Amino acid sequence: MKKYRIAVIPGDGVGPEVINEGVKVLNKVSELDGTFGFDFTFFPWGCEYYLENGLMMPKDGIDQLKEFDAIYLGAVGAPGVPDHISLWDLLLIIRKSFDQYINLRPVKLLEGAPCPLTGVKKEDIDMVVVRENSEGEYAGSGSWLYKGKPNEVVIQNAVFSRVGCERVIRYAYELARKEKKTLTNVSKANALNYSMVFWDEVFNEIGREYPDVRTYSLLVDAASMFFVKQPQRFQIVVTSNLFGDILTDLGAAIAGGMGLAAGANLNPERKFPSMFEPIHGSAPDIAGKSIANPLASIWSASQMLDFFGHEEWGKVIIAVIEQVLTEGQTLTPDLGGKSSTSEVGDAAVSMLSAAYYKASNWNL
Ligand code: NAD
Ligand code: IPM
Ligand code: MN
Repeated sequence: MKKYRIAVIPGDGVGPEVINEGVKVLNKVSELDGTFGFDFTFFPWGCEYYLENGLMMPKDGIDQLKEFDAIYLGAVGAPGVPDHISLWDLLLIIRKSFDQYINLRPVKLLEGAPCPLTGVKKEDIDMVVVRENSEGEYAGSGSWLYKGKPNEVVIQNAVFSRVGCERVIRYAYELARKEKKTLTNVSKANALNYSMVFWDEVFNEIGREYPDVRTYSLLVDAASMFFVKQPQRFQIVVTSNLFGDILTDLGAAIAGGMGLAAGANLNPERKFPSMFEPIHGSAPDIAGKSIANPLASIWSASQMLDFFGHEEWGKVIIAVIEQVLTEGQTLTPDLGGKSSTSEVGDAAVSMLSAAYYKASNWNL
């Protein structure tokens, strides 16, 4: 039986609460399927580890993760540890070290999910944001000059390499071609007169190889407005690291909230492990209360199964999330319910087998 080795980093705040439910779902999937399973190894890295050891993970942490088939992460960040330290020394360094240059974030209104927009149908919000995930505004370099002096200056560099732009833009064109969808480039060349002018040039150059893909280009400020006013404009969206970060929280807001937004950090060449996580953070305002919505982390588990080639299971999990939402009996407070995190996870697990048999047209 194929065993996938999964490194689990529950992390901080609600991270361990939600990731626990995703692990339950994955275990049930392997039990039902019978042809593959998971070996989970838990890593207690994060802000508590930092407060004890002065590091977010051991010095050889990246080496320890290298051999896994995938990483499943909850969330990172806690009051008491500066965010730029906790995030750079764990989440961002993993994305970078493993060249997870594609951040695939579906913005899809599932059946039964609440939408704050009026007059919007389920089919109107159905996009995938392809976020550049290795460089751009997250290059992590800059300088801090004349600290504390009146002439203090801080510079944060954004790096857009040809290779870095081409590979993510090409990925987005390929996805649009494969799925016969439109591709919208979101950038900001009117103000960012180096980085985004270059990004747009690369987008147009690569586009010549994809005459079959219908493209649009929008400035990020206008794109934000259209996410709210006309989300049906978007199918596949490609954008830079920071713009993708911001747009996908907006995407979460229009498609059911932070508790329903998943993301996959992919190294498409599979040279290194890819990482799957809900896009929300450690939510310190609700951490420890067992009320965090685990559906985003369960959705990201379905992305992991897609990535392993078990798309049929990925679909079953999405169907189960939709069933949880439409039945409405077991929802966390962010979705108007009274259930706990683990009650929602248990409900999903209990629905899995029926959904699986239905999808495979087997008789019970
Ligand atoms: P956040 O996503 O943690 O929370 C924003 C809001 O969404 C909060 O009101 C929170 O209660 C709600 N929320 C988030 N996840 C939820 C869930 N599963 N169910 C129900 N409600 C949920 O963003 P923030 O407050 O800006 O950041 C908190 C910390 O998390 C910071 O340290 C930040 O740097 C970090 N962060 C980490 C990640 C990550 O690890 N991938 C992502 C974003 C933020
Ligand atoms: C996300 C998060 C991270 C990002 C932070 C925590 C560094 O907001 O995954 O969306 O900006 O990429
Ligand atoms: Mn974010």
